[in-house]
Amino acid sequence: MRKDLGVLTAVFPMPVLMVASYDEAGTPDVMNAAWGMICDYDKIALFLAEDHQTTRNILNRKAFTVALADKAHVEEADFAGIVSAAAMPDKFARSGLKETKSTFVDAPVIEEFPVCMECELAEVIDTPNMYAVVGKIVNVNAREDALDENGKIDITKMQVLTFDPFKAGYYVTGPQAGEAWRSGKVLMEKEDKE
Ligand SMILES: Cc1cc2nc3c(=O)[nH]c(=O)nc-3n(C[C@H](O)[C@H](O)[C@H](O)COP(=O)(O)O)c2cc1C
Repeated sequence: MRKDLGVLTAVFPMPVLMVASYDEAGTPDVMNAAWGMICDYDKIALFLAEDHQTTRNILNRKAFTVALADKAHVEEADFAGIVSAAAMPDKFARSGLKETKSTFVDAPVIEEFPVCMECELAEVIDTPNMYAVVGKIVNVNAREDALDENGKIDITKMQVLTFDPFKAGYYVTGPQAGEAWRSGKVLMEKEDKE
């Protein structure tokens, strides 16, 4: 038996992206964005409300960074999503997060988060169905403790947060369940045998 649930944003996991930017005065801001995804090998699309301070900052500075939030900073990550810098000018300072200016783009890199994409504003898509800012990823930086012995980002070394849109929970990623482009091969072999 299956049940109809009506209209839901039924994608899980959603990311917990920390979008950081500078305002006109150079004050850093960070917001939480679950509606965002890679849309090309060097591009990320964020679906932002036009009235967020972050959106204004991105349009003004033509740059932003996007970091993956981790479990150790769940309070800071959620805070970034429930308070606007427009209403609380010391939002970033209150978060306790530390930032330094990216050497690649005009946007802050937040020290605490394990992986950070540094983006130039590539495009704004404004249609009746979506408002998105598209960033060109010009560099990715990561904390050294998030890397394996070959210098690759190792997801098992950090507890990256995900967002559950059904009950608004934050979760951490679980154990590996398979290997992309490999796990399905067993069914190809099955086909061969038949
Ligand atoms: C879990 C979570 C996910 C969110 N995802 C988005 C999103 O994808 N797009 C968006 O426009 N706002 C999103 N928000 C809301 C913004 O993070 C929030 O309005 C924030 O205060 C904006 O800050 P700013 O005005 O300082 O930029 C989300 C909030 C939370 C708690």
